[in-house]
Amino acid sequence: MPKTDEVQSELAINGGPPALTSLEAPSQPKVGTEEFMELAELWGFSEEAIQEIYETIKDEDLGGGPHLTRYYNPRPSKVDALEREAAEFLGSKYVLAVHSGTSALETAYVAAGIGPGCEVIVPAYTFFATAAAVVSAKAIPVIAEIDESLTIDPRDVAAKIGPKTKAIVPVHMIGTVCDMDPIMKLADKHNLIVVEDVAQACGAQYHGQRCGTIGHLGCFSISTYKYIGAGEAGLVATDDEKLYIRAQNHHDTAACWRPDRYAQERMPGELFCGTNYRMSELEGAVNLAQFRKAPARLVRQRQVYKNLVSYLRPHQDIIPQQVRDLDGHVGYTFVFFAPAAAQATRLAEALQAEGVGANVFTAGGARDWHIYKYWEHILEQKSATEEGCPWTCPFYDQALPPYAEDMCPRTLELLSRGIRISLSEWLTENDCRQLAGAINKVLDAFHEPIAGASWHDIRPSE
Ligand SMILES: Cc1ncc(COP(=O)(O)O)c(C=O)c1O
Repeated sequence: MPKTDEVQSELAINGGPPALTSLEAPSQPKVGTEEFMELAELWGFSEEAIQEIYETIKDEDLGGGPHLTRYYNPRPSKVDALEREAAEFLGSKYVLAVHSGTSALETAYVAAGIGPGCEVIVPAYTFFATAAAVVSAKAIPVIAEIDESLTIDPRDVAAKIGPKTKAIVPVHMIGTVCDMDPIMKLADKHNLIVVEDVAQACGAQYHGQRCGTIGHLGCFSISTYKYIGAGEAGLVATDDEKLYIRAQNHHDTAACWRPDRYAQERMPGELFCGTNYRMSELEGAVNLAQFRKAPARLVRQRQVYKNLVSYLRPHQDIIPQQVRDLDGHVGYTFVFFAPAAAQATRLAEALQAEGVGANVFTAGGARDWHIYKYWEHILEQKSATEEGCPWTCPFYDQALPPYAEDMCPRTLELLSRGIRISLSEWLTENDCRQLAGAINKVLDAFHEPIAGASWHDIRPSE
């Protein structure tokens, strides 16, 4: 037996002296300077800067150290501030921060009661996560065509609504707003939920209203690769308190978000087994700063798009991307369609030779997971478990959608002749004039200019 400093006396509970009054172990913060030095290295600070920062903070008294989770934080939470400011920016009653756009979608689907036996209509052109999150919520994705806006075609949505349809997911792709009026009308008529996927269009507006607040729920990715955001993060927006509470439950099944964490259920459907998609204070702080830049960035970006378009000449057989709300369009990608794939390739090559970073959406036949044809997880009904959930779900008592690589021919055809050019928000008016000059030069060489019309006057024939 190891020797201990045992004190033989009356038990403290009976009035004797306590055996343990102090320990020598120093109190050290769990998170100290080392974590911040790792971040400085991650962010690519120079050796000299890192040394300077280290010299400045190495002797700082960090007290208990920073608390990097949003709940029970002794300091005002950055995630709380992000939610508050995002809600104000969007004009939404509630915003919930989660750790990615994919987790925002899954959270919104589950909150809306999408699950076994339900179908959800998604566009054939969107990042795969929009559809994958339907499957992780145990529902069945139905894939609908896009139109010349590169967003979901409301006519195809109408054709694909069936007895199992529970929701429609319009995706505001590459900063372009979906045609929300007909989508909302369909949803009203058939009593469907609308979950907007705004991962690629944070700040876009439709008839003056921010995208993500028109449907019942809006989902945002605010990751490094998105127009606004850094690292990995997402948001769920809604005006509906019940949807918000259910979203909170799914994103944090540990229930730290509840006013009384372990209390009984306050309403039916509040508590169920969720997951942990909580955003950390690190992501909260970075994305709060990102969000504050959004208004100025949107102004700059929209101006660049408008400047470019103002210098462009419309041409025979060249169809501009159909932008449903020019004022609400984010405008970081400029798109137009050639009459056929071969002509699109030829135009893109000619533009590249002029120094314009243009390419066709399907260039090189790359396996691009923004195009449904490459979603074999869905087309081949892959499942994480052997019984094939959700494809074999007994609640889904009808034939699966006719999944096939060629099931949305219009989408494939549009993408094969669509040409895109990325636009930096920092382009000057002169840059826009020069860029437009290069585009006009190439279009003039292959197509007849249309006199007396401006770029967005041109519409596709029905
Ligand atoms: C349209 C769309 N939806 C959802 C997502 C998923 O977002 P995240 O990467 O933050 O999970 C993305 C990301 O690429 C996207 O483009």
